[in-house]
Amino acid sequence: MEFEVLARCHTTRARVSRMKLAHGVTMLPTFMPVATQAAIKGLTAQQVEALGITLILNNTYHLNLRPGTEVLKEAGGAHQFQGWRRNLLTDSGGFQLVSLNKFTKITEEGALFESPFTGEPTMLTPEESISIQHAIGSDIMMQLDDVGKFSHSLLHTLTTGPRVGEAMWRTIRWLDRCIEFHEKSGRSHQNLFAIVQGGIDSVLRDQCLNEMIKRKDRVAGYAIGGLSGGEEKDVFWRIIKQCADRLPADRPRYSMGIGFAEDLLVCVALGVDMADCVFPTRTARFGVALTFSGPINLRLGKHAADLQPIDGTCPCPTCSDGTSRAMLHHIITLETAGAHALTQHNIVFEARVMGGAREAIMNGNFPDYLKTFFANYFGDAG
Ligand code: GUN
Ligand code: ZN
Repeated sequence: MEFEVLARCHTTRARVSRMKLAHGVTMLPTFMPVATQAAIKGLTAQQVEALGITLILNNTYHLNLRPGTEVLKEAGGAHQFQGWRRNLLTDSGGFQLVSLNKFTKITEEGALFESPFTGEPTMLTPEESISIQHAIGSDIMMQLDDVGKFSHSLLHTLTTGPRVGEAMWRTIRWLDRCIEFHEKSGRSHQNLFAIVQGGIDSVLRDQCLNEMIKRKDRVAGYAIGGLSGGEEKDVFWRIIKQCADRLPADRPRYSMGIGFAEDLLVCVALGVDMADCVFPTRTARFGVALTFSGPINLRLGKHAADLQPIDGTCPCPTCSDGTSRAMLHHIITLETAGAHALTQHNIVFEARVMGGAREAIMNGNFPDYLKTFFANYFGDAG
């Protein structure tokens, strides 16, 4: 990949960069919508491209189960399979295995789980994860990482204790196996990212950073993992800051599983370049529209006669068609078209938050942009 920092904010660590991958240029910071099953729920690839999105995320775990690597290879990769012409990042499967499957057992060899279809014990190793991501043909591949354990009632990552250290050290060993396997394949148009683990323990995070920075010449970028589990905000920010401060300036930095607009902007201010989350698309299906005055729950009766669009300044197909809040309120519980309309709006909203950040960083007024955003988002203007 080509990665070039074009501008930096003088008072925060925010930066604008240009990342060129095999399927085109993506300007950073950017938010990546999640297409777990090779589709953003409710949208076609053509619709997503028309929104101006240049980078989306697929999940290795899901695509390996269905349609499987045979079909993906036959199709010529996941881009062709889903009709997506722009950049694609794949998560490695480790996180999904542990969050979706109670019985997953992590061993040194890999993650052992029961196939949800056949019930057969199946092993996902670091090599196998990369091999599947090769069949997918994603532009950015994530290493298989050990995310530790989940408390299933809360979907919390366990963020302290001995298991966190064990998972962090294993993640480094698995990174080495991913690097070895990937380098031997000769697929240099696909880019491998490392994932920093270590929970909320700053000593473990530093040890992980030390090891992963040593491997800088063999990885294209870095993710900060293990943080979407609902930890306190100050703890979350402290870990993002610690990692972003130390990660090499000439590699993209990706915070995994982050999607609230306010979190995106704090991460950007701390030096993060990429983020992904199901939040904007999932909340759309629950009838929530994201706006610069905060989220709006269109299911509420107070919108039933409101003939304004969600946001008169929004360029998304839903707002620019003039579709009213009243119509969206009416349709969201009756027809899937309501979810499609809100999904498009919310994806464009996240893109505008990040696009606005890029413009402000370029123009030297990112701190003002933050101030205005937070005043409007948490004020009572809406
Ligand atoms: N998605 C959100 N957090 C994580 C993480 O720590 N690891 C991986 N692989 N995916 C994630
Ligand atoms: Zn809109």
